[in-house]
Amino acid sequence: MTNRSNVKTIVTSHIPVLLEEAVLGLNIKNDGLYVDVTFGSGGHSQAILENLGGEGCLVAMDRDHRAIIHARERFGQDPRCRIAHGSMRDVDKNLESIVPGRKANGVIADLGVSSVQLDAPGRGFSFMADGPLDMRMDTSAELDASSWLNHAEESELVQVLREYGEERYARRIARAIVEYRKTRPLQRTGQLVDIVVDAVPTREKNKHPATRTFQAVRMYINSEMEQLSTFLPRAVRVLAKGGRLAIISFHSLEDRLVKRFMREQARGDNYPPNIPVTVRQLRPLLKIIGKPRRPDRSEIEANPRARSAVLRVAERTGHHYA
Ligand SMILES: C[S@@+](CC[C@H](N)C(=O)[O-])C[C@H]1O[C@@H](n2cnc3c(N)ncnc32)[C@H](O)[C@@H]1O
Repeated sequence: MTNRSNVKTIVTSHIPVLLEEAVLGLNIKNDGLYVDVTFGSGGHSQAILENLGGEGCLVAMDRDHRAIIHARERFGQDPRCRIAHGSMRDVDKNLESIVPGRKANGVIADLGVSSVQLDAPGRGFSFMADGPLDMRMDTSAELDASSWLNHAEESELVQVLREYGEERYARRIARAIVEYRKTRPLQRTGQLVDIVVDAVPTREKNKHPATRTFQAVRMYINSEMEQLSTFLPRAVRVLAKGGRLAIISFHSLEDRLVKRFMREQARGDNYPPNIPVTVRQLRPLLKIIGKPRRPDRSEIEANPRARSAVLRVAERTGHHYA
């Protein structure tokens, strides 16, 4: 079992967030089967492996082919590791094809983009450096940011900027994008930055005016909310009794979805309030473990990208599906 002293910290190009808390939350068993659906640079996977014995198994997945190449280079020789390209929404299918018939003792998802993706101008995730407007985590996916921004209806642009970016100037930015693309196509991140900077009339302290727009477009292009909402029930299905689900979110919409899902599953079946039922009849599938965890000040100082992170952990009960 995991204890605080044997959770080691590693430094990679992406600094893993809430590492110790997440690994403790998974309550790793020596011979357990663990699934990291967002391998990224492998910070959480590495810590899981450090806490697994020779009989344990880690399945590492990511929808980004480059993350998978990195995973193979780094852990391909470790006999406890299975590595596969795939989206978190397919966690059940992928697991069944990799380790048929087995249930997991823990599933971890560390949502969003990695620093490796953000810091590569060629991927188009960042407003900090000019690059192609791509933003696909899975570069084999059809729709990239440039195609969408050049063709989306103005009302759709407004909706995405509002919903995923919580951008109060969504209307102005959408209008400016539509005007701009009448004269030339939007192909570079630098163009989008210039449009947004001109369209946004005020400035937020310590926040680049294009932050919200880039976040919104990225979440839309990668269907991040849809991925998460499909993944959650499938992750519960792959867990063994006592298995843990650990989710690290970075966006209030994601965290709200995770919180509601875990609460509903911990409450059990939806009987009308006037019918007396026992916990056994309610069949809750999850038990919530501890309080949500956020990075402390020292972690945020060392890694400002951790500042909005929230970790939630739940455990699979022994109840069966209805
Ligand atoms: C925040 S990083 C994970 C970092 C990792 N925990 C580490 O310590 O290095 C998120 C990773 O999840 C991947 N990802 C995001 N959404 C995904 C999805 N729906 N399915 C699979 N992978 C996804 C991204 O490609 C990215 O590599």
